[in-house]
Amino acid sequence: MTESAVNWALLRESAIAATQRSYAPYSHVLVGAAGVNDQGELVVGSNVENASYGLTLCAECSLTSDLVRLGGGRLVAISIVAGDHQPIAPCGRCRQVLFEFGGADLLIDQGPGADPITLKDLLPQAFGPADLPARRS
Ligand code: THU
Repeated sequence: MTESAVNWALLRESAIAATQRSYAPYSHVLVGAAGVNDQGELVVGSNVENASYGLTLCAECSLTSDLVRLGGGRLVAISIVAGDHQPIAPCGRCRQVLFEFGGADLLIDQGPGADPITLKDLLPQAFGPADLPARRS
């Protein structure tokens, strides 16, 4: 799976479908995410809220769990949408979570007719796995 082979329409459809599995009784903000890894496998996630609000899992966290459960691989592209079916910005924590599995070149959908942006645009100068061995004392 190369970046030019990304089926954005499928990712958007899958992300929209995932909003229907959202558990968001508190915010009522439905979020769905769909991504593809370097093996061409589709992974999805939905947000899962909690009565203890701060324990809410974002759709991207749920997607990451799906990715690891499927056997991992590198995330190549992701679409994240809200209940209005429009792209929604990944929160700061999710940018870091996505960096772990997609790195700086992960493509993030900006909707039909717009070019995707890369994670390095959303999370410049990121801290990541490569920093750990370099910084151990
Ligand atoms: N949410 C996500 O699922 N992903 C994001 O990147 C932004 C926020 C969810 C969390 C919560 O359930 C709802 O949106 C409102 O914050």
